This record gives sequence, structure tokens and C-alpha cells, in this order.
Amino acid sequence: MHCIKKIKDDLFWVGANDRRLAMFEGVYSVANGVSYNSYLYTDEKTILFDTVDKAVLHRFLENVEFVLGNRKLDYLVIQHMEPDHSASIKKLIEKYSGVKIVCSEKALTLIKQFFELDFDFEKNTIIIKENDTLNTGKHTFKFFMAPMVHWPEVMVTYDTNSKILFSADAFGTFGALNGALYADEVNIEKDYLDEYRRYYANIAGKYGAQVQSLLQKASGLNIEMICPLHGFVWRNNFTAILNKYSLWSGYNSEEKGVMIAYASVYGNTENAAEILSCSLRDKGIKTSMFDVSVIPSSEIIAACFRWSHLVFASTTYNAGIFITMEDLINDLVAHNIQNRTVAVIENGSWAASSASLIKEKLEKCKNIKILDKTLSIKSSLKKEQLQEIEAIAMAIADDFPETVKTASSVSDTDAAQNVIKNSNVSIDPNALFKLSYGLFVLTAKDGQKDNGCIINTVMQITASPLRIIIAVNKANYTHDMIIKTGAFNISVLTESVPFSIFEQFGFSSGKDTDKFSSVSYKDRGENGIRYLKEHSNCMLSAKVTDSQDYISHTLFTAEITQTLVLSDHKSVTYQYYFDNIKPKPQVSKSGGKRYMCKICGYVHEGDLPDDFECPLCKHGAQDFELI
Ligand code: FEO
Repeated sequence: MHCIKKIKDDLFWVGANDRRLAMFEGVYSVANGVSYNSYLYTDEKTILFDTVDKAVLHRFLENVEFVLGNRKLDYLVIQHMEPDHSASIKKLIEKYSGVKIVCSEKALTLIKQFFELDFDFEKNTIIIKENDTLNTGKHTFKFFMAPMVHWPEVMVTYDTNSKILFSADAFGTFGALNGALYADEVNIEKDYLDEYRRYYANIAGKYGAQVQSLLQKASGLNIEMICPLHGFVWRNNFTAILNKYSLWSGYNSEEKGVMIAYASVYGNTENAAEILSCSLRDKGIKTSMFDVSVIPSSEIIAACFRWSHLVFASTTYNAGIFITMEDLINDLVAHNIQNRTVAVIENGSWAASSASLIKEKLEKCKNIKILDKTLSIKSSLKKEQLQEIEAIAMAIADDFPETVKTASSVSDTDAAQNVIKNSNVSIDPNALFKLSYGLFVLTAKDGQKDNGCIINTVMQITASPLRIIIAVNKANYTHDMIIKTGAFNISVLTESVPFSIFEQFGFSSGKDTDKFSSVSYKDRGENGIRYLKEHSNCMLSAKVTDSQDYISHTLFTAEITQTLVLSDHKSVTYQYYFDNIKPKPQVSKSGGKRYMCKICGYVHEGDLPDDFECPLCKHGAQDFELI
């Protein structure tokens, strides 16, 4: 039975998942399977983008047959000839005779190398060069060469009408799709980022310059969706993956921290690695440890792309580097690792030599700084060598910015509190209330659910491109909707706004209520998201291009997609709200202590503990005043 996904009225995912494959390309474990994506348009001419691995041929043919119905297949675009995407070409061509192949010159060479086909290539092949286009009726496709991302014949395709980039291997991941198709249907950061990194580092890691060239080409396109050959389709918020690709392809670390890989036959080298890791942690430096004889090389390669500092600790074996460590180092050099600081530890009961051999290999890589301090263990670590480990830890620590050490040694919450408690600077919270703010209703939509909340931070940061930033408290349901959908509207409130709007959008959660239930008008922006046409002087629609986590809040950077001027009334300021809109506190009848939230006006009766949190707006005790 077919198993397809509709992406647009005339575009379908017709790929398949493979959970029986143990090792992708025979070398990368894929415990969570892998997807082979294929995309089929039913335009005036039908056009299919790539095929699938032979393991899922049957399902793929069922999918294509179902979507085509009685129609013939007009074009087969072959963007990449690696057999995980091309193995089904022969069967497809046999089934849909008359199909025209659309591919690069190099791909045609590879087709002829891989298959003996009864196919008139002369007559039925369209050879594509950079910037060539192909029209299928409503859609015009533009092609861009992407050599070595990940083979030399690779090209990517841009649908100029739907603004979709078919990106071949780029922006994909290991892992089956499990019923989802879009990246926003899952938690990429928590559940998939490690696999995206492992996929990138191992599949395309060697070809950073070529990936950067593809990113450069993509930056000139107005992209609304990215359809890769593996993993999820990106339909919003893809700045996150583009940023990761930018870091990875430039061989820049994602995080300051130390990756420690060790090869230890009887645990003594491991012991030294553990002690070093403890010392680094004591200095507030993040560490991640791998036993190279247990953990697959692909995972450690990915970790080397993630962290800024690398430590290799290896026993000496057959007068060389221990087998699994030597494999790892060779693999790392082959993947072109660059821009890292490295420390080395060796062990050898009679002729330790692994440290110098590891250094020799890594010195071939670009911009690798190898620390002078090296620890050489004879069989097992001795007490007097603890200071040598400490010297390595200190040398690594000296290479870290002070802010990173401080930040990584405490939790985010601790860090936030420490800023207040331990700072020598005298902080009067009232000073911050002198900052001028506006007040805005921020709205979002997820499926059929509309929601909104009050925010006070919206700022235009650039005019070209037209971008704004907003800060949104993570406790707000609207925040989660924006994370998921990448789109929002801002209604700029005016001085005419009644307190009821703040009660409506600020004092309850959209999880439990319909915040628009008492709004009589139903206006929506072009993005389908509601806005307030009364008590607002303008509406801004925006699409998120980037986001930054700031402990309690997320800072979203977004591109303006629509603006509407609604009135000439003055925008309300925070000060105006306090002076004229927020109800004045009532006199306590009981005579007990009463505190009012300076943010939303909530009144708390009785003592106010330090960890008190406003049940309405979620601000802390520092934002309450005695009344
Ligand atoms: Fe997914 Fe390079 O093939």
C-alpha cells in the first residue's frame, strides 16, 4: 500500500523509510533508521526528484504509481547518483518508458557506469548546466551545481514559483521520519541535532569549501521550504540549520568545551583522561568523553566538529598509535578538521610513541594548535604526574575566555542569580524601569488554534532587510507556537487601549482559554494570523529568521512580511500604562501586607517569599512593590 505525504496541491513526498539497515554506506550505524526522500510534482508535466535505495524500491514504486494515477511520468531529475537515491532508476525507467532524464553531465557518466540500461540517452536526456531552467507548466525549475555535496555530479533545484529548494544531501540527517515530514513537527534541538551533526560531519564534513559555495548560492534565493534527500523537510525557521551549516562548513566549533577521546587497554590511560576531565570541569569547562574502542568513530568525528578543544589519550600499540585511536585520527584528518586546539596524552610501558605520532598526523590539518604540554605515562599514572595533568588542564583553561568558564560552571538559573547576588555593582531595579517600552499584542497561530500575549519589547534592527527583534517569555504559550511555526503578528497598542485587553491577553494562558473569544472582529494578516484592529495603530507580520535563548526569554529575530497602518493614535508606552490604564491599588481592608506586581498589576496578600512568581505574568518577586 502506498504511503505518501502531500506537501502542496501538486507536490508529494513519495519516499520511504528504512529501519532494517544497520550501517549506512556500510560504515555509519543508523539505529533509528534513515529516510530516502523523493518528491513528485503533478504539474502539467509530471516531474520526479530522485529515486530511492533498492531496499525500499517496492514501496517507492507504489507511491509514484498512486500519485501519478493514469498519468505518465514526464521527467526524472537525478540530482545525486549515490545508490541510496539512484538504485531505483532502472526499474523506474522500465516502468515509465518515455520519461526524460534531467541531470548534470557528470551524473550521466555515473548512470552509465552504474547501470546497463536499454535507454536512448541521446534522445531522452536533458543535460543541465548552471542556472539552466525547466518549465513544467505552472512551475519553472532552476538548477545549480553543488559538486562534492556530496559527490561531483550533485546539483540542487529551486522551484521559482513555490520557492522550494530541493537540496540533495544538504540539510539532511540520519533517522527515519516516523510519520512526520516537517522539521517543526519534532524537537530538532533536543532529539535530532546530534544526528544532523553526525550526518553532516561524516558525509559532507570533508567538503567545507564546497558546502560554503552552495550556501552562497542559496543565500541569493528567496527560500520558503527546503526538501532534502534524507530527513525532515524545512518549511520555517530554517535559519537554525543554515547557521549550523555555516559553522560546520567553516570548521568553526559550535561550543567552547573539550572533547576527550581515549584508547585504553587496561584502564590506565582512561584514568588519566578522567582526571583531566575532572580538573577541567572544576575550572568550569564543559567536557565530553569517548572511549574510542566502544563508541563508533562517526559519533566522535561529530563531537570534534562540535567542540572547540580536542584531547586524544592513547596507549602505544605495536610501536604505534592504538588501533582504534589511529583509525579515529586518520578519519578525522580525512574529514579535514580545522581550527581546533589539541592536547595529547600517551601511555607506553616500554616505548611510548603515540603522542608524537598523533601530533604528526594532526599537524597536517589547517590551523590546528597543538599544546606543548604532553603527558607521557609509563604503564600507570603516578602521584607526581598529577601536576602534569593539572598543567595540561591549565593550558587548556588559559585558552578559554573567562566568561565561558564562569558560564559553564553554573546552571543558567544560578548564573542569573549570581549576577544579582555576587556582583560588586550596586543594582537598583527601579533604574531599569526608567527604560522606555511600548506595549504590544503578539499573536500566533498553530493549526486552528489562535493565541496571543502581551509583550513590551519590539525593536526594528535593520531596514534592509527589514528586520525586528522581539523578546518573549518562555512561559507564554504564544512563545511555543512561534518556536513551532516561525511566524507571528504584532499589534502596536495605542493609548486608547482598555485594561481589559491586558486582562484578556496577559493574565491567562491560551492553553486553557480562547483569548479571542470576546473579540468581535476576525481580522487576519496574509499569514493567516489574527491581529487587533481596535486599540492598535499598526500591525506587523513577521517570519522568524533566527532565535537566541536567554534563560527566561527567547529573543526572536524576524523579517517583516506585511505591514498595515490602522490609525493615527499615539502608541501606548509602559509609563502611560502605569499612569493612566492600570487600576490603582485598593487600600488593604485586613491591614496585612499587600504587594502588587509592577508588570501586570496582580496583588498578592501576605509575605512575599524571594522565589515568589506572579501567577499571571510570571515575573519574580523583584518586580513586586509593597502597597
Ligand atoms: Fe544520501 Fe550522498 O547520498
